[in-house]
Amino acid sequence: MTMERFPLPGTDILESDIRSIPGIDHGPDLYLEFQGQRLLNLASNNYLGLAGSEKIKEASIRAVEKFGTSSGASRLISGNYSLYSALEEALCRFKNTAAALVFGSGYAANLGILSTLAHRKCLVFSDRLNHASIIDGITLSRATHVRYRHADPEHLEYLLAKKPVQAPKILITDTVFSMDGDKAPLPEILNLCKKYRVLTIVDEAHATGIFGKGRGLVHELGLQQDIDLHMGTFSKALGSYGGYAAGSRKLVDLLVNRARSFIYSTSLPPAVVGAGLEALQQIQARPEQGPRLLEISCALRSHLQELGFDTGSSTTQIIPVIMKSSRAVLQAHAELVQAGIYTGAIRPPTVPADSARLRLALRADMTSQEVELVKKAFCKLSTRQPLDEQK
Ligand SMILES: Cc1ncc(COP(=O)(O)O)c(C=O)c1O
Repeated sequence: MTMERFPLPGTDILESDIRSIPGIDHGPDLYLEFQGQRLLNLASNNYLGLAGSEKIKEASIRAVEKFGTSSGASRLISGNYSLYSALEEALCRFKNTAAALVFGSGYAANLGILSTLAHRKCLVFSDRLNHASIIDGITLSRATHVRYRHADPEHLEYLLAKKPVQAPKILITDTVFSMDGDKAPLPEILNLCKKYRVLTIVDEAHATGIFGKGRGLVHELGLQQDIDLHMGTFSKALGSYGGYAAGSRKLVDLLVNRARSFIYSTSLPPAVVGAGLEALQQIQARPEQGPRLLEISCALRSHLQELGFDTGSSTTQIIPVIMKSSRAVLQAHAELVQAGIYTGAIRPPTVPADSARLRLALRADMTSQEVELVKKAFCKLSTRQPLDEQK
C-alpha cells in the first residue's frame, strides 16, 4: 500500500548490501556474544578497553548519584552542571587550547561545527574518505563542497589554486581514516592551508587515545599551532560518549551561539559526562597504551600481508582486509565467526563500490594468545580460493 502511494528510496539495493542490526551483546568488551557464541571482538572502537574500566564505571555512578539520570534541558537553558565545565577545562588542558565545547555526539559536533563555520559563500575542502558526519555537516552548511582525492596534497593544491583567492576557505580532514586505518598527510596539507589562507579543522575521532600520548595525531606531529579547531569524540578509545570541539575562545563562543546541534538538543546525561572526565585522566595516566596497540597492529598487519591479504594503506590500529565484493566479505566474516572472531563486515555505501572489506579494530587489551588466534584464523582463510575469484 505504502509503495503504491510513495516509492520508498533504496529498494534497489543489492541483497548482499542489505544491513540488519546484529544480535550482539556486550559489544564493547574484548569478548562479545553473538548467536550464543563468545567471540573475540575486533569490531568495536573501544581500542583501549576503557569502556569496561572500573574507575570509569565508578566515576559514572558517582555522577548519577550526585546529579541524577538526565540533564533535563539544553545547556543554554538549564541543562548545565558543574561536571560539564570540569570536562571542558580538562579538554582545554588535553588539547592545549583556550576553550572547548562538548556536543551530544561526534556526529552532532561535526554537524554543528560545519554548519556554523561554513556558509553559502564558503568553499569546504574535504578528503574524499572523510567520515559521513563531515559530509552531512558540509551539506547542511550549504557551502560548496570541494572533495579532494584521498590523502592527496597535490590534488588539494590543484583545487585550491583554481578557486578565487578571496573566497573564504575551510579544510577538514579525519586524522586517522575510520575505514582504511591510514593517516592524513597533515604536514603537507597544513602547509597548503597556510599558503592559501584556509581555516583548518581536524577530526581526531580515531587518533585520540592512540597517538600523541593520547592527545591525537596533531600533537604527535607537533602541529597544534596550525590547527584552528580540533574535533573529537569520547565514543571510541575514551570508552564513553559525546563529541567535542576545542580551539580559540572566539570560535568556541561562536559555536555556543550558532551551532544548532548544540543549542537545540538536551545536553548529555551526568553518567556520560562523568565517564568522559575520568577517561581523559585514564588516558593521560597510561600513555604507553597507544604505542603498545600500534605495535600489535604493525605485527598483525605484516602477517596478513605475508598471507597475501590486501590491507590497503593502513598504518594504525584499524586494519582493513579488502575483498572487493560484499559476498566475499560476508563469507569471510562467517568463517571468522566459526573461528571465534567477530570483525566488522563493511560494505557500500560505507566504502566505495568494489572495496568491501573486513575491518579489524585492534585493541590494547589483546593478549599474545589472542593475536595468535587471529593469525591462525586468517592463515586458514588464505588457503581457500577467494570468493572474489570463484566463477
Ligand atoms: C571520523 C569520525 N568522526 C565522527 C564520528 C562520529 O562520532 P560519534 O560516534 O561519537 O557520533 C565517527 C564515528 O563513527 C568517526 O569515525
